[in-house]
Amino acid sequence: MPKTHSRFICQQCGRVSASYMGKCPQCGSFSSMVEEIIQEEAPARSPNASRGLTGRTSPRRIGDIATDPEPRMPVPISEFSRVLGGGIVPGSIILVGGDPGIGKSTLMLQLAMEMAKTRGVLYVSGEESERQIKMRADRLLENGASLPENLYLVTETNLSTILDHNREVRPAILIVDSIQTVYLPELDSSAGSVTQVRECSSQLRELAKSSGVSVFAIGHVTKEGVIAGPRVLEHIVDTVLYLEGDRFQAYRLLRSVKNRFGATAEVGVFEMRERGLAEITNPSEAFLAERMVNAPGSAIAVTMEGTRPLLVEVQGLTSAAQFGNARRTPNGVDYNRLLMLAAVLTRRVGVKLGEQDIFVNVVGGLKIDEPAADLAITTAIVSSMRDLPVRADCVLIGEIGLAGELRLPGQMPVRLREAQKLGFKTAIVPKRLRKAEPWPENIHIIEVRSIYQALEVAFAVEQKAASKPKASD
Ligand code: TYD
Ligand code: MG
Repeated sequence: MPKTHSRFICQQCGRVSASYMGKCPQCGSFSSMVEEIIQEEAPARSPNASRGLTGRTSPRRIGDIATDPEPRMPVPISEFSRVLGGGIVPGSIILVGGDPGIGKSTLMLQLAMEMAKTRGVLYVSGEESERQIKMRADRLLENGASLPENLYLVTETNLSTILDHNREVRPAILIVDSIQTVYLPELDSSAGSVTQVRECSSQLRELAKSSGVSVFAIGHVTKEGVIAGPRVLEHIVDTVLYLEGDRFQAYRLLRSVKNRFGATAEVGVFEMRERGLAEITNPSEAFLAERMVNAPGSAIAVTMEGTRPLLVEVQGLTSAAQFGNARRTPNGVDYNRLLMLAAVLTRRVGVKLGEQDIFVNVVGGLKIDEPAADLAITTAIVSSMRDLPVRADCVLIGEIGLAGELRLPGQMPVRLREAQKLGFKTAIVPKRLRKAEPWPENIHIIEVRSIYQALEVAFAVEQKAASKPKASD
């Protein structure tokens, strides 16, 4: 029997501790520590594991180290390629996380079918039968196209058998759907437990590093710690991608939250259609397509998703609270941020929101966590409250401080250029105190110091707003 000892690991943040703790000292979550049994002769800790990525460990002069770009397999799906940083690095392991039903298997099967046109791909599923996957593949095929020769499917959950299959097929890409369904028979715990998920991932990582196969592991994001979620794996893998979106809406965002071989926070945009996920190469246009111009309660924000600016419509609605308890209901915006913005509006601008329910919605199922959207959110709320539409063809960019002051977010030229490219004529933005980089000239820019001043110029019927007392800062 191999010797074992146990340790505890937080399912939220991955913090390891020798003894059980009710509250994680790192992330502060409660009851998130689970016991993990460690076998001292665990396969992942074979002598190979400490040999480093290239197999050699002798120190070299920094100047002697070659820095040629990583060789990459080009990915024909450009939105996917962008998120990976320009293709798949051989021998890397990539985690693709997301809520159940969001489209991970669909996306990976599409990738598998594209890549299998030029190289071998092995798709291992522990969730669906080979027949089910074949049927999905048929559905994804364009008219008249035939299934790729080099795509192999197998339903298997025993990782040792999966490694055997991999040895036999020798694919360039191995897809494991999902990491929560595979298990190592030599470990006692059941599939999906922290121990299994971590050990299986470590073995897949070993496989990738030693054989050069690129491994994609799909992981379900789980509600607070029932089973091990992708969070505990983030440090084992090279790249972490999340597929997100509103299940009831068509848009899906593929976001890189970690990438050893490229920029993080890069985003690819897709739309779930009848035939799988279609690329949206011009997302701002898509997100604004259904906008009702001149309707009160709507404002356009420009957020940065990675290196790409995105124009999104933010909607606000206020309505007299029914039972004294005014509610704040954000969709796509952080709840606490909304509370803060409502408080700033009440205290600094005098908008009486105390007895109003507030609803905020980001169109397209997008989640925006950038403070640069503050100005659009507050303007949408006030627009609904006053029943005045925001002036036509106008974007609003700016972070709001507690004193009601506006702060300039980064990357303004890129944001303004995108707005201008989509036909917006005006931008209401925070005042520039330092003129560091030039701004585009062919868009009318209104610089304001405070949310109060922004609201004075934001509405279509300016006379009405102008009759209110003047701002002084
Ligand atoms: P799936 O890839 O199975 O999700 P996950 O692997 O993340 O759990 O996709 C689930 C949803 O996608 C399902 O509700 C059906 C929908 N779908 C389409 O709308 N079009 C398609 O072509 C396919 C294959 C799926
Ligand atoms: Mg799936």
